[in-house]
Amino acid sequence: MTHPLTVAVLGPGGTGGLLAALLSRSGHRVICLAGETTAGTLRRTGITVRSRQFGDFTVTVDTDTELREPVDACLVTVKHTTLDAALTRVPPAALGDALLVPLLNGIEHPATLRARYRPDRVAPAVIRVESTRTAPGVIEHGSPFTEIDLAGDAVPRDRLDVLAGHLTACGTTARVAENETSALWAKMSFLAPFALLTTRYGLPLGAARTRHRDELQALVAETAAVSRACGAPADPAQALARYDAFPSTAKSSMQRDAEAGRPLELDAIGGALLRAAGRHGVAVPVTERLVRELRAAGH
Ligand SMILES: NC(=O)c1ccc[n+]([C@@H]2O[C@H](COP(=O)([O-])OP(=O)(O)OC[C@H]3O[C@@H](n4cnc5c(N)ncnc54)[C@H](OP(=O)(O)O)[C@@H]3O)[C@@H](O)[C@H]2O)c1
Repeated sequence: MTHPLTVAVLGPGGTGGLLAALLSRSGHRVICLAGETTAGTLRRTGITVRSRQFGDFTVTVDTDTELREPVDACLVTVKHTTLDAALTRVPPAALGDALLVPLLNGIEHPATLRARYRPDRVAPAVIRVESTRTAPGVIEHGSPFTEIDLAGDAVPRDRLDVLAGHLTACGTTARVAENETSALWAKMSFLAPFALLTTRYGLPLGAARTRHRDELQALVAETAAVSRACGAPADPAQALARYDAFPSTAKSSMQRDAEAGRPLELDAIGGALLRAAGRHGVAVPVTERLVRELRAAGH
């Protein structure tokens, strides 16, 4: 447990930059994989984190545009919209026996990664955090928590335990989830209704959950039905209670991307939900309409 790791971080943005900085601060060797410009900036300036939970600090990291040396783990923290392009920076041969740990939201990327890399080394993780890359190497971490569930049903359990231990030691709350499908769907079940509704209506959660209550309830019920059909438990009443407990000003990251004119992870969230519903013959009319309307709006 005391042996420091070498960890590559593909896409040192909001989530990746935060984890890279925390791991580096704890004494691990971190190699951020990024494009030439971002890699150059991070090499010169390091990563600066401003955080309610961890304080303000700056660390140095190594950088490269491609993985060229052995690592213990490679965190994948790009968005879905850039995943394919980013993966060219991680040649399967360079990854070898290392764990590949995607922290993306969504449910379909593990299969993409397992088709390309050693399937029993792909360890999908779910992260609950609010962290934003405001400039290359500058991370604003707003949430008072950083929670990570590591999964990977075929990954040797001791490898997951060791990584979770190091992630916890550097300040996050990391644990190993017993079941990958349940872990991914637990996040999806909360995220999809929140993201689709707030982005479709351009409203923060408080206004969305009162003005569009019926749609929120329908989205939650539909997502829960798809989750169950995929073999993951779901608790729609608890999901609704969580939305109601959230601050009324809360915005989804999809909504923030829409406001900033950035590409949305709409296909990875809404599209994936519709595809899963289709595979299992689950009716999801409200989800279908919202995804259609968001696509029609140019997303
Ligand atoms: N941010 C959060 O609070 C949060 C919370 C939970 C889950 N998530 C999920 O985590 C995933 C990552 O989100 P994020 O918010 O961390 O994204 P982000 O802040 O946009 O960071 C993505 C990073 O990927 C880099 N990148 C883009 N294309 C690349 C390429 N071809 N090669 C290498 N690097 C590339 C970007 O580099 P540049 O800096 O050069 O642009 C950026 O640093 C998403 O699936 C998101 O839904 C995020």
